Amino acid sequence: MGFEHWFNRSLNRVWGFIEERAGIPKWALRPQPAFTFKPSYWTGAFVANAFFMQVVTGLLLLLYYEPSVAPTLTSCGQTLGTYSTAPAAWCSTYYLIHSVPMGNLLLSTHLYGAYAMLFLAFIHFYRGYYLGAYKKPREFSWMAGTLLLLLTLGMGFTGYVLPYTQISLNATNVGIVLALRLPTLGALTAPFLIADGTPQGLLSRMFALHVLVIPLALGALLYAHIALFESHGIAPPATSDPLQRNRYVHSEEKKQVPFWPHIFFYMTKWALLYLGLLLGIAALWPWQLPTYVGNLAVTQTVTEPDWYFLWLFKLVDFYGVTPVIAVGITVVLMLYVLALPFIDRSPRRHPRDRPIVVMIGNTLLGFFILLTVWGGLTPGVQILPIGVAERLGPIAAINVLVVTLFYLRYRKSYQARLIARGSEYRLPGAYPVLGRGAPVVGASAPRTAEVSSVD
Ligand code: HEM
Repeated sequence: MGFEHWFNRSLNRVWGFIEERAGIPKWALRPQPAFTFKPSYWTGAFVANAFFMQVVTGLLLLLYYEPSVAPTLTSCGQTLGTYSTAPAAWCSTYYLIHSVPMGNLLLSTHLYGAYAMLFLAFIHFYRGYYLGAYKKPREFSWMAGTLLLLLTLGMGFTGYVLPYTQISLNATNVGIVLALRLPTLGALTAPFLIADGTPQGLLSRMFALHVLVIPLALGALLYAHIALFESHGIAPPATSDPLQRNRYVHSEEKKQVPFWPHIFFYMTKWALLYLGLLLGIAALWPWQLPTYVGNLAVTQTVTEPDWYFLWLFKLVDFYGVTPVIAVGITVVLMLYVLALPFIDRSPRRHPRDRPIVVMIGNTLLGFFILLTVWGGLTPGVQILPIGVAERLGPIAAINVLVVTLFYLRYRKSYQARLIARGSEYRLPGAYPVLGRGAPVVGASAPRTAEVSSVD
């Protein structure tokens, strides 16, 4: 008996013992179908991994951070000059960067980790959007996910002001003014966001929200999100739709891969790669701390949020877009995403079958990228209606044109193929209505109609 055999058998025994006592298979860490072992199926796990790393680096930062606006000389007075004082929050960050071994690496890892988590959450969201992962029976997973995305943005917003730099405080004030314009909700949340209206009140609230309230809410919601995922199982590929070409057969779902050791090592590999990349980027391009709030030596500072809120800042620069209108647009967007499973209710999951949803998704993505770049290049510069029409108009027009052409081309070839095969299936608008007992696409219930006849 070789060492490898002995090792695997021992691991299985130990894991089997733990699994049985802890009842793990009943609540988590289920085996997954073999076909899911591609990164695109694990985007949510990547976000969860990024969140875990944020918790670890954030707890380490807590050892040094002082959430106070009181002027202090103690930790950074020496470098700034005997007579200059700076808020304690900024000083403790300055001290971490300049005096704590690897302090700057830790801080930069936390900051870039936040960017990565947001970026991965957007990827996870858009993947689900295009592939119709929100369809029955995963509506609640989608809604919990939308709230997770909002909470992740909330983490970014509340964390930005903590080093108490002038640029971050300016942007936070703009964000708070926008949030307070929310009908009803604004007035209700005001005392929680700004406390007694003093600078210390604001910083204390942002600190409490960032290190305790939002992470706890995020953790609880994440638990619900993953529990829902465990109960439904992973959504099969969009090609499994009975009206699509058969690149996936239902029996593939039956080939399961156990959590230990396969999934564990698969995820460990990605987690280590993520950590290595993050540390590498943080070491090569460490974050530079901007000047502190109230530095009299600096006459002018810009008001600029982190990149993920630039689009909203640019929106307010549009001619005629008041803060109330900007907030209104954001609320409508949020409601659209939240209610999407109930708006797009057809059982079709393949993007080819959902041209309208794809068009809206492309338009939002295009606008989001454009406004972000625009906001970064010309923050605070007002845009006249002609400028808006010149830039946003072509994006919307090209998107509608390309999606429509693709759809028409696909419709023609697909219909020709169906006619050649004598199939009774029809394209959107003329699809047969799935009655009771008909296959639910994407549900874990076995489908009766197999796909192989449609090719
Ligand atoms: C903090 C943010 C989030 C975390 C940590 C997270 C985590 C996860 C995890 C671990 C899974 C299991 C499958 C996988 O690994 O991809 C999952 C699935 C899922 N998530 Fe998220 N998620 C987040 C945000 C979102 C958002 C913003 C949405 C959409 C609005 C969303 C919608 C879904 C859906 C529909 C599934 C089921 C996908 C399938 O079965 O293929 N999640 N999520």
